[in-house]
Amino acid sequence: MTTPDPIFVDPRLARLYDAFDDDRADLDLYVGIAERLGARTVLDVGCGTGVLALLLAARGLDVTGIDPAAASLEVARSKPGADAVTWVEGGADAAAGLGLAADLATMTGNVAQVFTGDDDWAGALAAVHDALRPGGVLVFETRVPARQAWLGWTRESRPARRTIPGVGDVEKWNDLVEVALPLVTFQGSFRFPPGLLPDGDVVTSVSTLRFRERDEIEASLDVAGFVVDEVLDAPDRPGLEWVFVARRV
Ligand SMILES: C[S@@+](CC[C@H](N)C(=O)[O-])C[C@H]1O[C@@H](n2cnc3c(N)ncnc32)[C@H](O)[C@@H]1O
Repeated sequence: MTTPDPIFVDPRLARLYDAFDDDRADLDLYVGIAERLGARTVLDVGCGTGVLALLLAARGLDVTGIDPAAASLEVARSKPGADAVTWVEGGADAAAGLGLAADLATMTGNVAQVFTGDDDWAGALAAVHDALRPGGVLVFETRVPARQAWLGWTRESRPARRTIPGVGDVEKWNDLVEVALPLVTFQGSFRFPPGLLPDGDVVTSVSTLRFRERDEIEASLDVAGFVVDEVLDAPDRPGLEWVFVARRV
């Protein structure tokens, strides 16, 4: 299993995730697909701080959220309505042992790109296949490589500042570390209020993401026993993402 990045496992950073990723219009598509399919049971793979899992549970669905980052799950578990969700600490590969027979599995927030190796990705797809009932659907997104999202992962392009309750003002920026396609590595930096942390004001997290082409993804889904029903555009990020809707055969 790939080890999650510090941004998800360091409790000081995991508690900042929702504040900096505060526009979740991206999830509307997933909620709409769950509704359209009439899904009753959902597995959210790489659920992180649980935003989609909680949205779906609030609509009466039976939701399991799985993520290897204990600190992110801790944030999820502290939220209102969290008792309605089954939270599992584990990587996607652990989904196989859950005995779920789910109607729908989701991977939002470009979780699919954290699986940098072919084996990791194949293992994740195999496990999700196992967790779905026959005819169940996997929906996930991934960035279109040709749109070179990494060009925007620089200090200049998207610095951000948020006021975090109990912490104060936190500043965030990214630095591009390496583009070695299909892998892209970048570093996120978070500046905390002066003197708050014992080991310096800036905490960093390095992440490597895999940019897969559409035909590669389709081939991997085929090998894992899925049929691609649709490849959608993400309405909130037109032209930038592919959203795969794949059915377990
Ligand atoms: C960008 S976050 C997305 C979180 C959430 N899906 C969302 O939309 O807010 C990526 C998530 O993938 C998780 N992750 C990393 N490695 C994983 C693995 N092997 N299996 C499942 N999830 C993983 C991280 O812990 C993190 O929560």
